[in-house]
Amino acid sequence: MRLEHRVAIITGASRGIGRAYAERFLNEGASVVVADVDDASAETSVSELAALGPVTYVHTDVSVAASTEACAQAAIDAYGQIDILVNNAALYGDWNLADQSEEYLRRVFDVNLHGVWLMTRAVAPHMVREGYGRVVNQASAAAYNYVGTRTSDGFTGLNAFNYQQTKRGVIGLTKFSAGQLGAYGITVNCLAPGVIDTAATRSVVPQSVIEQLAGLQAVPGVLHAEDLTGAAVYFASAEARFVTGQVLVIDGGKYMPA
Ligand SMILES: NC(=O)c1ccc[n+]([C@@H]2O[C@H](COP(=O)([O-])OP(=O)(O)OC[C@H]3O[C@@H](n4cnc5c(N)ncnc54)[C@H](O)[C@@H]3O)[C@@H](O)[C@H]2O)c1
Repeated sequence: MRLEHRVAIITGASRGIGRAYAERFLNEGASVVVADVDDASAETSVSELAALGPVTYVHTDVSVAASTEACAQAAIDAYGQIDILVNNAALYGDWNLADQSEEYLRRVFDVNLHGVWLMTRAVAPHMVREGYGRVVNQASAAAYNYVGTRTSDGFTGLNAFNYQQTKRGVIGLTKFSAGQLGAYGITVNCLAPGVIDTAATRSVVPQSVIEQLAGLQAVPGVLHAEDLTGAAVYFASAEARFVTGQVLVIDGGKYMPA
């Protein structure tokens, strides 16, 4: 029960990795606010998770400032405080790789990067008032991949740099927020997972490729959402009070950034 009496907002927790965080945080004694745009999926998850502890769904679009502020207020109204924010929501399963337009590039940045800033900005005053807070951001080991996808049929124009570079931005934002908020007892850290076997991944990457990539790791094997939850709990716990601005890559040792 490492998160007993704590209140956590977890974005994108309707499914996949976010849902695994919600389940683990409830098992560690936290009250959880699931913040997501997918009402049907979130309501199903919340009704299934309710047996584990106090959990509420708040419809939240992380790319809209007013929505993030309403989410923070709803958490306060429901549980009286906000101790933990997990910025997990992103266009990943819903990411449209084929759309290389400028408009869509801006959309991916709005959700994956600006959404992390907006949610952090929305909860920060509540954490500052308490003099305590834990922010855990979800980047990706993709942030270290500068090649991205290339077409085999010659040059068709410069591709939109979107998913990978939004995650690179999340790493920078983690360090910026850690610097800004540390004096108020708030730590901000970041997880950078490799390929995780979620429904979202399976919808874009064939199982054979998931297994092939797993063989390239220092520690071979397919990673699952549950392989991330222990690290998220550590960053979110009181014992990590002097750990801030850090990035933890969890990918079996495929990328080992300095
Ligand atoms: N699965 C992987 O291999 C992997 C690897 C590295 C990082 N990640 C990151 O982990 C996170 C979760 O991944 P996943 O596999 O569970 O993906 P997913 O697509 O299943 O989950 C994303 C969640 O975010 C929600 N969401 C999307 N846009 C939103 C918005 N504007 N506001 C609020 N919620 C929104 C979705 O409804 C969904 O619940 C993402 O940040 C992803 O980039 C995933």
